[in-house]
Amino acid sequence: MHLSKVEEAMLAGEAGLGKQKAMELLVALGRIYDAPELVPITSAHLSGVSYKTIGEGGIEFLEEMSCTNVCVPTTLNPAGMDSQRWREMGVEQHFAERQLRILELYGKLGVETNCSCTPYLLGNAPKRGETIAWAESSALSFANSVLGARTNREGGPGALAAAILGRTPQYGLHLDENRRPTVIVEADLDGGVFDFSLLGQVVGSRFGAAVPYFKNVRPGFNELKIMAAAMAAAGSVAMFHVEGVTPEASGCDLKGVEKVQIGRSDLLKARDTLTTDKEPDLIALGCPHLSESELKRLAIMLDGKRKKGDTEVWFCTSRSIYLRCPKERMVLERFGKVVCDTCMIVAPIEKNHRCTATNSCKACSYLPGLCSQKVLCRSEVELMEMIS
Ligand code: F3S
Repeated sequence: MHLSKVEEAMLAGEAGLGKQKAMELLVALGRIYDAPELVPITSAHLSGVSYKTIGEGGIEFLEEMSCTNVCVPTTLNPAGMDSQRWREMGVEQHFAERQLRILELYGKLGVETNCSCTPYLLGNAPKRGETIAWAESSALSFANSVLGARTNREGGPGALAAAILGRTPQYGLHLDENRRPTVIVEADLDGGVFDFSLLGQVVGSRFGAAVPYFKNVRPGFNELKIMAAAMAAAGSVAMFHVEGVTPEASGCDLKGVEKVQIGRSDLLKARDTLTTDKEPDLIALGCPHLSESELKRLAIMLDGKRKKGDTEVWFCTSRSIYLRCPKERMVLERFGKVVCDTCMIVAPIEKNHRCTATNSCKACSYLPGLCSQKVLCRSEVELMEMIS
């Protein structure tokens, strides 16, 4: 891989230990993927924030890196707890202290610590054609597909290295040829958020790391958000197109691309495969984090109703959206907790819960392995009917 003189000097340690480590990481990645050079980025988004997922090893790594700074706008994924309401979430003191230390270290690096997996709703919204380095599979797929920006599926350390250097190796989805559709999906569905979550699950699990091109569907913003998350979790899809909706779809060459049909029965089968229990002790919405319109829709659904039963309910969102919706929050808080900065996967829910119900197929994919949970996969409406 070609390095400029400045990059060679950073690799030799002339700009300090933090930049040297970051450069070593990017050069190793670039060599593995045969990248010709490093290219400038305009933003980064980092995963690896929860104490539950990165532990003491992650803290040590961040301490080592904290002698340097990020040089492009950089946002953070959800942490392991709501930084203000962690006690109400049942989070232990030791966990909370270590989580706050992680946030402090990211803050020292110059990272924006408003923790969310929807950075594109919080001011980190790259434009079409921008080169970025994002971790968080749902957010980077949304950025590639819906915003038309260009990022690979970065891991936490790779994205942090890119943020420190303002560069990333040029390979994979930074190149036109890797953004072309590899399968055409003709879907037959009614069109709610839950249907798109299931559609993402079916396509991800059937086609792995494909670049799907969807026909016959008109997902809106929230549908695209949940579908991107499901496909990324079930099959590592990092880029997709939707005819008439996403920005690069109109330029796609579909000649010779395999075509498949997905119908209602496939969606129901996916829902039933993900479901392993019918008696949740936690109902959690907001994977990816709820948008303002979703929070408002939920509040309309529940307004004027009474809470039924004593199942714990979480509405997961970013702190910015929480602050933007004071009236809706009051309605939702009668039924559960509007939790910020975290989510049902990266919080230590396994300490207090056995079975989680959600409408997010991404969460359903991760709950058994990362949170030792049984799972009930149901639509937003069905979940709200269980508590009102
Ligand atoms: Fe976001 Fe957590 Fe889901 S990070 S995409 S809410 S697993």
